[in-house]
Amino acid sequence: MRTLLTLCLALLSIVATAQGQCVLYLQQCAACHGERGRGDGPAARFLDPKPRDFRSGYFRFVSTTNGIPSDGDIWESLSAGLPGSAMLSFAHFAPMQRTMLVNTIREFRRDGLRERLSASMTDASAIEAAVLELDTPSGGVSIPTETPDTMDARARGALTFARLCSRCHGSDGRGIIDPERLTAEGALARPRDLTRGVLKGGIEDVRLWQRIRGGIPGTPMPAVSSKDLSDEGVWDLVHYVEALMPRGQQELHDPVRWSLGAVRIQGPLPTGPDDPALLAVQPLWVALAPFQSHERTVEGVAVRALHDDEHVVLRMEWADATCDVPARGGKAVAPDGIAVRLAGMSFPPVMPIAGSPLPLDRALWLAGAKPAADDPVFDALVPRFENPDSVCKSPIGPEHVGQAQWRDGVWTAFMIVRPERAGHIEAGGSMPISFAVFDGSVARGPLPATFSHWQTLRFGH
Ligand code: HEC
Ligand code: HEC
Repeated sequence: MRTLLTLCLALLSIVATAQGQCVLYLQQCAACHGERGRGDGPAARFLDPKPRDFRSGYFRFVSTTNGIPSDGDIWESLSAGLPGSAMLSFAHFAPMQRTMLVNTIREFRRDGLRERLSASMTDASAIEAAVLELDTPSGGVSIPTETPDTMDARARGALTFARLCSRCHGSDGRGIIDPERLTAEGALARPRDLTRGVLKGGIEDVRLWQRIRGGIPGTPMPAVSSKDLSDEGVWDLVHYVEALMPRGQQELHDPVRWSLGAVRIQGPLPTGPDDPALLAVQPLWVALAPFQSHERTVEGVAVRALHDDEHVVLRMEWADATCDVPARGGKAVAPDGIAVRLAGMSFPPVMPIAGSPLPLDRALWLAGAKPAADDPVFDALVPRFENPDSVCKSPIGPEHVGQAQWRDGVWTAFMIVRPERAGHIEAGGSMPISFAVFDGSVARGPLPATFSHWQTLRFGH
Protein backbone atom coordinates (compact mmCIF):
# COMPACT_ATOMS: atom_id res chain seq x y z
CA MET A 1 0.00 0.00 0.00
CA ARG A 2 2.77 2.32 1.01
CA THR A 3 4.75 1.55 -2.14
CA LEU A 4 1.68 2.15 -4.22
CA LEU A 5 1.21 5.53 -2.55
CA THR A 6 4.86 6.47 -3.11
CA LEU A 7 4.54 5.39 -6.72
CA CYS A 8 1.41 7.49 -7.15
CA LEU A 9 3.09 10.50 -5.58
CA ALA A 10 6.12 10.03 -7.81
CA LEU A 11 3.86 9.84 -10.87
CA LEU A 12 1.98 12.92 -9.77
CA SER A 13 5.18 14.88 -9.36
CA ILE A 14 6.31 13.84 -12.86
CA VAL A 15 3.01 15.09 -14.27
CA ALA A 16 3.34 18.29 -12.26
CA THR A 17 6.88 18.86 -13.55
CA ALA A 18 5.81 18.25 -17.13
CA GLN A 19 3.04 20.78 -16.70
CA GLY A 20 5.39 23.17 -14.94
CA GLN A 21 7.77 23.06 -17.91
CA CYS A 22 4.95 23.71 -20.26
CA VAL A 23 3.41 26.55 -18.32
CA LEU A 24 6.64 28.50 -17.97
CA TYR A 25 7.51 27.92 -21.63
CA LEU A 26 4.01 28.83 -22.80
CA GLN A 27 3.99 31.97 -20.72
CA GLN A 28 7.51 33.23 -21.40
CA CYS A 29 8.68 31.81 -24.72
CA ALA A 30 5.72 30.74 -26.87
CA ALA A 31 4.79 34.26 -28.05
CA CYS A 32 8.00 34.15 -30.11
CA HIS A 33 9.07 30.50 -30.37
CA GLY A 34 5.55 29.09 -30.83
CA GLU A 35 3.54 26.74 -28.65
CA ARG A 36 5.27 23.70 -30.11
CA GLY A 37 8.70 25.26 -30.53
CA ARG A 38 8.43 25.74 -34.30
CA GLY A 39 9.58 29.37 -34.13
CA ASP A 40 6.14 30.50 -35.28
CA GLY A 41 4.65 32.35 -32.29
CA PRO A 42 2.37 35.33 -32.98
CA ALA A 43 5.27 37.80 -32.47
CA ALA A 44 7.57 35.94 -34.90
CA ARG A 45 6.37 37.76 -37.99
CA PHE A 46 7.69 41.05 -36.64
CA LEU A 47 11.14 39.66 -35.88
CA ASP A 48 14.29 39.34 -37.98
CA PRO A 49 16.15 37.07 -37.37
CA LYS A 50 13.18 34.83 -36.65
CA PRO A 51 12.93 33.12 -33.28
CA ARG A 52 14.72 29.79 -33.39
CA ASP A 53 12.70 26.81 -34.61
CA PHE A 54 13.72 24.30 -31.93
CA ARG A 55 12.42 21.37 -33.97
CA SER A 56 14.46 22.08 -37.10
CA GLY A 57 17.64 21.14 -35.30
CA TYR A 58 19.90 24.06 -36.12
CA PHE A 59 21.13 25.77 -32.98
CA ARG A 60 23.63 28.53 -33.66
CA PHE A 61 25.63 29.14 -30.52
CA VAL A 62 27.09 25.77 -29.65
CA SER A 63 30.39 24.69 -28.16
CA THR A 64 30.47 21.16 -29.62
CA THR A 65 32.33 19.82 -32.65
CA ASN A 66 29.23 18.13 -34.14
CA GLY A 67 27.03 21.22 -33.95
CA ILE A 68 24.51 19.57 -31.60
CA PRO A 69 23.86 21.85 -28.63
CA SER A 70 24.83 20.58 -25.21
CA ASP A 71 22.47 21.33 -22.32
CA GLY A 72 25.11 23.84 -21.23
CA ASP A 73 24.88 25.65 -24.60
CA ILE A 74 21.10 26.00 -24.37
CA TRP A 75 21.40 27.10 -20.74
CA GLU A 76 23.95 29.72 -21.78
CA SER A 77 21.78 31.22 -24.57
CA LEU A 78 18.80 31.25 -22.24
CA SER A 79 20.73 32.82 -19.36
CA ALA A 80 22.79 35.40 -21.24
CA GLY A 81 20.34 36.02 -24.08
CA LEU A 82 21.66 36.82 -27.56
CA PRO A 83 22.77 40.47 -27.32
CA GLY A 84 21.73 42.60 -30.30
CA SER A 85 18.69 40.38 -31.05
CA ALA A 86 15.16 40.02 -29.66
CA MET A 87 16.29 37.08 -27.52
CA LEU A 88 16.65 38.49 -24.01
CA SER A 89 18.34 37.04 -20.94
CA PHE A 90 16.33 34.87 -18.57
CA ALA A 91 18.99 34.78 -15.88
CA HIS A 92 16.41 35.97 -13.34
CA PHE A 93 14.73 32.55 -13.44
CA ALA A 94 15.79 30.13 -10.73
CA PRO A 95 18.28 27.46 -11.86
CA MET A 96 15.55 24.81 -11.53
CA GLN A 97 13.27 26.73 -13.88
CA ARG A 98 16.05 27.20 -16.40
CA THR A 99 16.86 23.49 -16.26
CA MET A 100 13.19 22.77 -16.96
CA LEU A 101 13.24 25.12 -19.94
CA VAL A 102 16.41 23.48 -21.29
CA ASN A 103 14.64 20.09 -21.04
CA THR A 104 11.54 21.47 -22.79
CA ILE A 105 13.68 22.78 -25.65
CA ARG A 106 15.55 19.51 -25.97
CA GLU A 107 12.24 17.66 -26.06
CA PHE A 108 11.07 19.94 -28.92
CA ARG A 109 14.32 19.17 -30.74
CA ARG A 110 13.75 15.44 -30.31
CA ASP A 111 10.11 15.72 -31.41
CA GLY A 112 11.34 17.44 -34.55
CA LEU A 113 13.82 14.63 -35.22
CA ARG A 114 11.13 12.00 -34.60
CA GLU A 115 8.84 13.73 -37.05
CA ARG A 116 11.46 13.79 -39.78
CA LEU A 117 12.68 10.23 -39.16
CA SER A 118 9.20 8.77 -39.16
CA ALA A 119 8.84 9.86 -42.79
CA SER A 120 11.31 7.14 -43.78
CA MET A 121 11.25 4.74 -40.77
CA THR A 122 8.43 2.81 -39.17
CA ASP A 123 9.98 0.90 -36.26
CA ALA A 124 9.41 3.00 -33.13
CA SER A 125 12.43 1.70 -31.23
CA ALA A 126 14.70 2.22 -34.24
CA ILE A 127 13.40 5.79 -34.49
CA GLU A 128 14.13 6.36 -30.77
CA ALA A 129 17.66 4.98 -31.19
CA ALA A 130 18.25 7.26 -34.19
CA VAL A 131 16.84 10.26 -32.30
CA LEU A 132 19.23 9.61 -29.43
CA GLU A 133 22.15 9.34 -31.80
CA LEU A 134 21.25 12.53 -33.64
CA ASP A 135 20.76 14.37 -30.39
CA THR A 136 23.96 13.46 -28.61
CA PRO A 137 26.33 16.40 -28.42
CA SER A 138 29.98 15.59 -29.02
CA GLY A 139 32.68 16.88 -26.73
CA GLY A 140 33.44 20.59 -26.76
CA VAL A 141 35.79 22.28 -29.21
CA SER A 142 39.13 21.99 -27.42
CA ILE A 143 40.74 25.27 -26.53
CA PRO A 144 44.53 25.28 -26.13
CA THR A 145 46.39 27.82 -24.03
CA GLU A 146 46.08 31.37 -25.30
CA THR A 147 49.05 32.88 -27.11
CA PRO A 148 50.08 36.47 -26.30
CA ASP A 149 48.11 39.32 -27.89
CA THR A 150 50.92 41.25 -29.61
CA MET A 151 51.03 43.58 -32.61
CA ASP A 152 52.65 40.75 -34.60
CA ALA A 153 49.87 38.36 -33.62
CA ARG A 154 47.19 40.85 -34.72
CA ALA A 155 49.03 41.49 -38.00
CA ARG A 156 49.10 37.72 -38.71
CA GLY A 157 45.42 37.60 -37.70
CA ALA A 158 44.62 40.40 -40.16
CA LEU A 159 46.06 38.35 -43.01
CA THR A 160 44.08 35.29 -41.97
CA PHE A 161 40.96 37.45 -41.75
CA ALA A 162 41.52 38.69 -45.32
CA ARG A 163 42.00 35.10 -46.49
CA LEU A 164 39.18 33.30 -44.64
CA CYS A 165 36.66 35.83 -43.40
CA SER A 166 36.57 39.00 -45.51
CA ARG A 167 34.48 37.54 -48.32
CA CYS A 168 31.55 37.60 -45.91
CA HIS A 169 32.56 40.05 -43.20
CA GLY A 170 34.21 42.53 -45.60
CA SER A 171 37.81 43.70 -45.40
CA ASP A 172 36.72 46.24 -42.79
CA GLY A 173 34.67 43.72 -40.74
CA ARG A 174 31.33 45.43 -41.35
CA GLY A 175 29.74 42.50 -43.14
CA ILE A 176 28.63 42.08 -46.75
CA ILE A 177 25.08 41.13 -47.68
CA ASP A 178 24.92 38.66 -50.55
CA PRO A 179 21.36 37.73 -51.58
CA GLU A 180 22.63 34.28 -52.51
CA ARG A 181 23.79 33.50 -48.98
CA LEU A 182 20.90 32.09 -46.97
CA THR A 183 20.41 30.39 -43.62
CA ALA A 184 19.23 26.77 -43.35
CA GLU A 185 15.72 28.14 -42.85
CA GLY A 186 15.94 30.10 -46.11
CA ALA A 187 16.30 33.59 -44.62
CA LEU A 188 18.90 36.09 -45.78
CA ALA A 189 22.14 35.46 -43.86
CA ARG A 190 23.66 38.63 -42.49
CA PRO A 191 27.33 38.28 -41.55
CA ARG A 192 27.86 40.12 -38.28
CA ASP A 193 29.18 43.69 -38.39
CA LEU A 194 32.17 43.04 -36.14
CA THR A 195 32.94 46.76 -35.79
CA ARG A 196 29.82 47.20 -33.63
CA GLY A 197 31.40 45.11 -30.90
CA VAL A 198 28.20 43.21 -30.07
CA LEU A 199 28.22 39.42 -30.40
CA LYS A 200 25.25 37.14 -29.79
CA GLY A 201 27.30 34.24 -28.51
CA GLY A 202 29.48 36.33 -26.15
CA ILE A 203 32.67 38.33 -26.66
CA GLU A 204 35.01 36.32 -24.42
CA ASP A 205 38.12 34.78 -26.03
CA VAL A 206 36.76 31.27 -25.64
CA ARG A 207 33.48 32.19 -27.32
CA LEU A 208 35.31 33.60 -30.33
CA TRP A 209 37.43 30.49 -30.41
CA GLN A 210 34.31 28.30 -30.40
CA ARG A 211 32.72 30.35 -33.21
CA ILE A 212 35.83 30.13 -35.42
CA ARG A 213 36.55 26.43 -34.89
CA GLY A 214 32.91 25.36 -34.69
CA GLY A 215 31.32 27.78 -37.16
CA ILE A 216 27.69 28.82 -36.73
CA PRO A 217 25.46 25.85 -37.65
CA GLY A 218 22.49 26.66 -39.87
CA THR A 219 24.25 29.73 -41.33
CA PRO A 220 26.90 30.06 -44.07
CA MET A 221 29.55 30.80 -41.42
CA PRO A 222 31.90 27.80 -41.80
CA ALA A 223 33.95 25.97 -39.19
CA VAL A 224 37.68 26.51 -39.73
CA SER A 225 39.45 23.16 -39.36
CA SER A 226 42.97 22.66 -38.09
CA LYS A 227 43.97 21.79 -41.67
CA ASP A 228 43.15 25.35 -42.71
CA LEU A 229 44.47 27.10 -39.62
CA SER A 230 46.71 26.06 -36.73
CA ASP A 231 45.64 26.61 -33.13
CA GLU A 232 48.10 29.48 -32.92
CA GLY A 233 46.59 30.93 -36.10
CA VAL A 234 43.14 30.85 -34.46
CA TRP A 235 44.46 32.79 -31.47
CA ASP A 236 46.03 35.37 -33.84
CA LEU A 237 42.61 35.72 -35.49
CA VAL A 238 40.84 36.02 -32.12
CA HIS A 239 43.22 38.83 -31.16
CA TYR A 240 42.63 40.60 -34.48
CA VAL A 241 38.81 40.31 -34.26
CA GLU A 242 38.93 41.64 -30.69
CA ALA A 243 40.95 44.61 -31.94
CA LEU A 244 38.17 45.34 -34.48
CA MET A 245 35.51 45.44 -31.77
CA PRO A 246 34.99 48.61 -29.71
CA ARG A 247 35.21 47.84 -25.98
CA GLY A 248 32.16 48.19 -23.77
CA GLN A 249 29.50 47.86 -26.49
CA GLN A 250 28.56 44.34 -25.41
CA GLU A 251 27.80 45.54 -21.88
CA LEU A 252 25.63 48.40 -23.23
CA HIS A 253 23.54 45.80 -25.08
CA ASP A 254 23.31 43.28 -22.26
CA PRO A 255 19.62 42.24 -22.42
CA VAL A 256 19.21 41.58 -18.70
CA ARG A 257 16.80 42.59 -15.99
CA TRP A 258 18.07 45.45 -13.82
CA SER A 259 16.81 47.27 -10.80
CA LEU A 260 15.70 50.88 -11.26
CA GLY A 261 15.29 52.98 -8.13
CA ALA A 262 12.44 55.52 -7.90
CA VAL A 263 13.36 58.14 -5.31
CA ARG A 264 10.48 59.23 -3.05
CA ILE A 265 9.54 62.91 -3.14
CA GLN A 266 7.23 64.98 -0.97
CA GLY A 267 5.32 68.02 -2.11
CA PRO A 268 4.16 68.87 -5.60
CA LEU A 269 5.04 66.65 -8.56
CA PRO A 270 7.60 67.92 -11.07
CA THR A 271 6.01 69.64 -14.06
CA GLY A 272 8.78 69.06 -16.56
CA PRO A 273 11.83 66.93 -17.34
CA ASP A 274 14.31 69.46 -15.96
CA ASP A 275 12.95 69.56 -12.44
CA PRO A 276 15.96 69.56 -10.05
CA ALA A 277 14.53 66.61 -8.07
CA LEU A 278 14.49 64.51 -11.26
CA LEU A 279 17.92 65.64 -12.40
CA ALA A 280 19.34 64.67 -9.00
CA VAL A 281 18.42 61.01 -9.58
CA GLN A 282 21.11 58.70 -10.97
CA PRO A 283 19.94 57.54 -14.43
CA LEU A 284 19.76 53.82 -15.23
CA TRP A 285 20.74 52.67 -18.72
CA VAL A 286 18.11 50.28 -20.06
CA ALA A 287 19.30 48.29 -23.09
CA LEU A 288 16.76 47.98 -25.92
CA ALA A 289 16.41 44.89 -28.08
CA PRO A 290 15.54 45.36 -31.75
CA PHE A 291 12.66 43.69 -33.58
CA GLN A 292 14.91 43.77 -36.65
CA SER A 293 18.53 43.17 -35.69
CA HIS A 294 20.03 44.76 -38.81
CA GLU A 295 18.36 48.13 -38.36
CA ARG A 296 20.39 50.99 -36.94
CA THR A 297 18.01 52.31 -34.35
CA VAL A 298 17.79 53.33 -30.71
CA GLU A 299 19.99 51.07 -28.59
CA GLY A 300 19.00 52.10 -25.10
CA VAL A 301 17.28 54.65 -22.94
CA ALA A 302 18.57 56.42 -19.81
CA VAL A 303 15.81 56.52 -17.20
CA ARG A 304 15.38 58.57 -14.03
CA ALA A 305 12.42 57.90 -11.75
CA LEU A 306 10.66 59.50 -8.77
CA HIS A 307 7.50 58.58 -6.90
CA ASP A 308 5.14 60.23 -4.39
CA ASP A 309 3.37 57.05 -3.19
CA GLU A 310 0.77 57.53 -5.91
CA HIS A 311 2.49 58.47 -9.16
CA VAL A 312 5.65 57.41 -10.95
CA VAL A 313 7.48 60.33 -12.55
CA LEU A 314 9.84 59.39 -15.39
CA ARG A 315 12.50 61.25 -17.33
CA MET A 316 13.71 59.24 -20.30
CA GLU A 317 16.47 60.18 -22.71
CA TRP A 318 17.53 58.42 -25.86
CA ALA A 319 19.70 59.23 -28.85
CA ASP A 320 17.93 59.43 -32.19
CA ALA A 321 19.67 61.29 -35.01
CA THR A 322 16.43 62.20 -36.79
CA CYS A 323 13.44 63.97 -35.26
CA ASP A 324 10.39 62.35 -36.83
CA VAL A 325 7.24 64.34 -36.21
CA PRO A 326 4.41 63.61 -38.66
CA ALA A 327 2.72 67.00 -38.34
CA ARG A 328 5.82 68.90 -39.41
CA GLY A 329 5.75 70.34 -42.89
CA GLY A 330 2.94 67.98 -43.85
CA LYS A 331 5.47 65.16 -44.34
CA ALA A 332 3.96 61.70 -44.06
CA VAL A 333 6.50 60.24 -41.65
CA ALA A 334 5.92 57.77 -38.88
CA PRO A 335 6.41 59.29 -35.44
CA ASP A 336 9.18 58.85 -32.89
CA GLY A 337 7.84 57.97 -29.48
CA ILE A 338 8.14 55.96 -26.29
CA ALA A 339 5.88 53.55 -24.45
CA VAL A 340 6.09 52.56 -20.80
CA ARG A 341 4.41 49.56 -19.19
CA LEU A 342 3.98 48.80 -15.49
CA ALA A 343 2.91 45.28 -14.54
CA GLY A 344 1.11 43.84 -11.56
CA MET A 345 2.91 40.48 -11.50
CA SER A 346 6.45 39.49 -10.63
CA PHE A 347 7.68 37.85 -13.87
CA PRO A 348 5.60 39.24 -16.72
CA PRO A 349 6.30 37.72 -20.14
CA VAL A 350 8.45 39.77 -22.54
CA MET A 351 5.67 39.64 -25.14
CA PRO A 352 2.11 39.53 -23.87
CA ILE A 353 0.09 36.78 -25.47
CA ALA A 354 -3.06 37.84 -27.27
CA GLY A 355 -6.14 36.62 -25.48
CA SER A 356 -4.53 36.47 -22.04
CA PRO A 357 -4.41 40.07 -20.88
CA LEU A 358 -2.00 40.99 -18.11
CA PRO A 359 -2.56 43.45 -15.27
CA LEU A 360 -0.78 46.29 -17.09
CA ASP A 361 -0.73 50.04 -17.04
CA ARG A 362 0.54 51.53 -20.26
CA ALA A 363 1.45 55.06 -21.19
CA LEU A 364 2.47 56.11 -24.64
CA TRP A 365 3.85 59.30 -26.06
CA LEU A 366 4.09 59.69 -29.83
CA ALA A 367 5.54 62.75 -31.50
CA GLY A 368 2.88 65.01 -32.97
CA ALA A 369 0.15 62.43 -32.60
CA LYS A 370 -3.18 63.20 -31.09
CA PRO A 371 -5.48 60.33 -30.22
CA ALA A 372 -8.49 60.21 -32.49
CA ALA A 373 -11.80 60.59 -30.71
CA ASP A 374 -12.57 56.97 -31.56
CA ASP A 375 -9.03 55.57 -31.15
CA PRO A 376 -9.64 51.85 -30.65
CA VAL A 377 -6.65 51.30 -28.38
CA PHE A 378 -6.42 54.54 -26.51
CA ASP A 379 -9.54 56.02 -24.97
CA ALA A 380 -9.97 59.55 -26.14
CA LEU A 381 -8.81 62.00 -23.53
CA VAL A 382 -7.69 65.54 -23.23
CA PRO A 383 -3.91 65.62 -23.27
CA ARG A 384 -2.41 67.58 -20.40
CA PHE A 385 0.64 68.72 -22.27
CA GLU A 386 0.39 69.93 -25.76
CA ASN A 387 2.99 71.44 -27.99
CA PRO A 388 3.43 70.92 -31.72
CA ASP A 389 5.76 67.96 -31.19
CA SER A 390 4.22 66.43 -28.20
CA VAL A 391 0.90 64.97 -27.28
CA CYS A 392 0.33 62.19 -24.83
CA LYS A 393 -1.86 59.24 -25.61
CA SER A 394 -2.88 57.03 -22.81
CA PRO A 395 -5.35 54.23 -22.46
CA ILE A 396 -6.15 54.87 -18.84
CA GLY A 397 -6.88 58.44 -17.99
CA PRO A 398 -5.61 61.96 -17.58
CA GLU A 399 -3.14 60.92 -14.87
CA HIS A 400 -1.02 59.53 -17.65
CA VAL A 401 0.63 62.45 -19.26
CA GLY A 402 3.74 63.07 -21.21
CA GLN A 403 5.77 65.53 -23.16
CA ALA A 404 9.05 65.35 -25.00
CA GLN A 405 11.59 67.48 -26.74
CA TRP A 406 14.21 66.69 -29.34
CA ARG A 407 17.44 68.63 -29.22
CA ASP A 408 20.84 67.88 -30.76
CA GLY A 409 20.01 64.27 -31.57
CA VAL A 410 18.50 63.43 -28.18
CA TRP A 411 14.85 63.02 -27.19
CA THR A 412 14.01 63.83 -23.58
CA ALA A 413 10.57 62.60 -22.54
CA PHE A 414 8.71 63.28 -19.35
CA MET A 415 5.80 61.20 -18.12
CA ILE A 416 3.71 60.85 -15.02
CA VAL A 417 1.97 57.54 -14.61
CA ARG A 418 -0.42 56.51 -11.87
CA PRO A 419 -0.57 52.73 -11.67
CA GLU A 420 -4.12 51.42 -11.45
CA ARG A 421 -4.33 47.98 -12.98
CA ALA A 422 -0.79 47.05 -11.93
CA GLY A 423 -1.57 47.71 -8.26
CA HIS A 424 -0.49 50.42 -5.87
CA ILE A 425 2.87 51.94 -5.11
CA GLU A 426 4.32 50.87 -1.78
CA ALA A 427 7.47 52.53 -0.46
CA GLY A 428 10.02 49.74 -0.11
CA GLY A 429 8.15 47.60 -2.66
CA SER A 430 8.68 47.12 -6.39
CA MET A 431 6.88 46.74 -9.70
CA PRO A 432 8.11 45.53 -13.10
CA ILE A 433 8.53 48.30 -15.70
CA SER A 434 9.46 48.08 -19.37
CA PHE A 435 10.08 50.49 -22.24
CA ALA A 436 9.65 50.45 -26.00
CA VAL A 437 10.96 53.14 -28.33
CA PHE A 438 9.41 54.14 -31.67
CA ASP A 439 11.77 55.32 -34.37
CA GLY A 440 9.99 57.01 -37.27
CA SER A 441 12.97 56.57 -39.57
CA VAL A 442 12.74 52.75 -39.50
CA ALA A 443 9.04 52.36 -38.70
CA ARG A 444 6.98 49.58 -40.26
CA GLY A 445 3.42 50.08 -39.22
CA PRO A 446 2.46 50.90 -35.66
CA LEU A 447 5.17 48.86 -33.93
CA PRO A 448 8.02 50.25 -31.88
CA ALA A 449 11.51 49.60 -33.25
CA THR A 450 13.00 48.32 -30.00
CA PHE A 451 11.84 47.04 -26.65
CA SER A 452 13.39 46.46 -23.25
CA HIS A 453 13.32 43.63 -20.80
CA TRP A 454 11.15 44.06 -17.72
CA GLN A 455 13.18 46.03 -15.17
CA THR A 456 12.42 46.04 -11.47
CA LEU A 457 11.23 49.49 -10.40
CA ARG A 458 11.96 49.82 -6.67
CA PHE A 459 10.06 52.46 -4.74
CA GLY A 460 12.28 54.26 -2.22
CA HIS A 461 11.20 55.18 1.32
C1 HEC B 1 10.73 38.38 -27.98
C2 HEC B 1 10.87 37.11 -28.62
C3 HEC B 1 11.54 35.98 -27.88
C4 HEC B 1 11.19 35.45 -26.66
C5 HEC B 1 10.07 35.89 -25.73
C6 HEC B 1 12.10 34.35 -26.44
N1 HEC B 1 12.97 34.22 -27.47
FE1 HEC B 1 14.41 32.82 -27.68
N2 HEC B 1 14.99 33.65 -29.44
C7 HEC B 1 14.38 34.72 -30.05
C8 HEC B 1 15.06 35.02 -31.29
C9 HEC B 1 14.68 36.14 -32.25
C10 HEC B 1 16.11 34.10 -31.41
C11 HEC B 1 17.13 34.01 -32.54
C12 HEC B 1 18.07 35.17 -32.47
C13 HEC B 1 19.17 35.13 -33.48
O1 HEC B 1 19.48 34.10 -34.05
O2 HEC B 1 19.74 36.18 -33.67
C14 HEC B 1 16.03 33.24 -30.23
C15 HEC B 1 16.88 32.19 -29.98
C16 HEC B 1 16.77 31.31 -28.93
C17 HEC B 1 17.62 30.17 -28.70
C18 HEC B 1 18.67 29.68 -29.65
C19 HEC B 1 20.09 29.71 -29.29
C20 HEC B 1 20.92 29.08 -30.37
O3 HEC B 1 21.99 28.61 -30.02
O4 HEC B 1 20.54 29.03 -31.53
C21 HEC B 1 17.20 29.57 -27.53
C22 HEC B 1 17.77 28.33 -26.88
C23 HEC B 1 16.09 30.34 -27.05
N3 HEC B 1 15.85 31.40 -27.90
C24 HEC B 1 15.37 30.03 -25.91
C25 HEC B 1 14.30 30.79 -25.43
C26 HEC B 1 13.55 30.47 -24.24
C27 HEC B 1 13.75 29.23 -23.39
C28 HEC B 1 12.63 31.45 -24.08
C29 HEC B 1 11.64 31.64 -22.94
C30 HEC B 1 12.19 31.66 -21.60
C31 HEC B 1 12.81 32.39 -25.16
N4 HEC B 1 13.81 31.95 -25.97
C32 HEC B 1 12.04 33.54 -25.33
C33 HEC B 1 13.29 35.43 -29.59
C34 HEC B 1 12.67 35.20 -28.38
C1 HEC C 1 30.41 32.33 -45.83
C2 HEC C 1 30.26 33.52 -45.03
C3 HEC C 1 31.08 33.66 -43.78
C4 HEC C 1 32.44 33.47 -43.61
C5 HEC C 1 33.46 33.00 -44.62
C6 HEC C 1 32.71 33.84 -42.25
N1 HEC C 1 31.57 34.23 -41.61
FE1 HEC C 1 31.42 34.87 -39.70
N2 HEC C 1 29.42 35.02 -39.89
C7 HEC C 1 28.72 34.79 -41.05
C8 HEC C 1 27.31 34.95 -40.78
C9 HEC C 1 26.16 34.78 -41.78
C10 HEC C 1 27.19 35.29 -39.42
C11 HEC C 1 25.89 35.56 -38.64
C12 HEC C 1 25.30 34.27 -38.10
C13 HEC C 1 24.03 34.48 -37.33
O1 HEC C 1 24.06 34.86 -36.16
O2 HEC C 1 22.97 34.24 -37.90
C14 HEC C 1 28.54 35.34 -38.90
C15 HEC C 1 28.84 35.67 -37.59
C16 HEC C 1 30.14 35.79 -37.11
C17 HEC C 1 30.46 36.20 -35.77
C18 HEC C 1 29.48 36.57 -34.70
C19 HEC C 1 29.36 35.54 -33.59
C20 HEC C 1 28.43 35.98 -32.50
O3 HEC C 1 28.54 35.43 -31.40
O4 HEC C 1 27.61 36.87 -32.71
C21 HEC C 1 31.82 36.24 -35.69
C22 HEC C 1 32.67 36.64 -34.49
C23 HEC C 1 32.34 35.82 -36.95
N3 HEC C 1 31.29 35.55 -37.80
C24 HEC C 1 33.68 35.72 -37.25
C25 HEC C 1 34.18 35.17 -38.43
C26 HEC C 1 35.56 34.93 -38.67
C27 HEC C 1 36.68 35.27 -37.71
C28 HEC C 1 35.64 34.38 -39.91
C29 HEC C 1 36.87 33.89 -40.61
C30 HEC C 1 37.50 32.74 -40.02
C31 HEC C 1 34.30 34.29 -40.44
N4 HEC C 1 33.43 34.78 -39.51
C32 HEC C 1 33.97 33.78 -41.69
C33 HEC C 1 29.24 34.45 -42.27
C34 HEC C 1 30.55 34.13 -42.51
